[in-house]
Amino acid sequence: MRHLKSKVAVVTGAASGIGRALAQCFAAEGMRVVLADIEVDRLQMAEQELRDSGAQVIAIKTDVANPDSVDALAEAALTAFGAIHVVCNNAGVGTVIGPIWERSVSDWKWVLGINLWGVIHGIRTFIPILLRQGEEAHVVNTASIAGLLAYPFPFMGVYNTSKHAIVALSETLSSELALLGSPVKVSVLCPGAVQTRIMDSERNRFDTSGRHPPSPEFVQAEETLRAMIEAGTLPQIVASLVVSAIHEDRLYIFPHAEYGEALRAQVEDIIGQRTPAPLKT
Ligand code: NAI
Repeated sequence: MRHLKSKVAVVTGAASGIGRALAQCFAAEGMRVVLADIEVDRLQMAEQELRDSGAQVIAIKTDVANPDSVDALAEAALTAFGAIHVVCNNAGVGTVIGPIWERSVSDWKWVLGINLWGVIHGIRTFIPILLRQGEEAHVVNTASIAGLLAYPFPFMGVYNTSKHAIVALSETLSSELALLGSPVKVSVLCPGAVQTRIMDSERNRFDTSGRHPPSPEFVQAEETLRAMIEAGTLPQIVASLVVSAIHEDRLYIFPHAEYGEALRAQVEDIIGQRTPAPLKT
């Protein structure tokens, strides 16, 4: 998609982190922007900041885990701006660190409900609208490096599962749209550590029944992950890579090239039918 100026972008998880940076980048490109998030105070702050910078923007409280809420978001975007050209299914949450078999049903439902079903709802709601419009459009699904590699990320099983599913969903969507000759393109964003509030995702977890804090032996692992995120890439850098991928109609957005060797090793292990060596932390 060459020209973004005056086009309309919808971004979920836009009140913080990568989503907020995406919204800022799109506004800087001259796009009209629809901000969606469940965290109302920060959503309003993000809206005000963009409006003060001269952008045309609306903010809609949205729970991506709820299909009706995602439908209402699309309706609000169409009512405000008449069309939609870029959709970023970005809202997501991190996970308690610990063995996969110790995660409760509530943990699985919470993480998959937002990370995976949030993207599924986004696809089911927005793709038919984009197809009806018949114009160039682009969908960006935020996965993670943990959507391409799981073996190097032990004790994050719920998150890894949700993100692998987003990669599979995005690849399938991209190939289906290409086979149909559609002008709608797809990207899947697979970053490593980015400086955001992801480690405090539980701030938006309202049903905490069934939530277990990390067992003592994993507290250190959680602290290590927190330190990695705090030292991570700035969200603005990731957002500018997303804009480049939209311009180039590119499926994979892989901001952290240092994982290239691990990816190559994984493919070789699969082809060679070998069990990878566990990562020593
Ligand atoms: P963040 O916590 O700063 O932002 C996530 C936003 O999603 C928040 O504003 C939050 O309120 C919103 N959100 C949470 N639940 C929601 C719901 N049910 N409906 C609507 N909005 C909801 O975290 P970050 O890192 O910016 O996360 C964005 C995406 O990036 C997530 O999908 C995450 O998994 C992914 N990611 C983050 C990485 C990192 O190192 N920060 C690395 C790889 C992927």
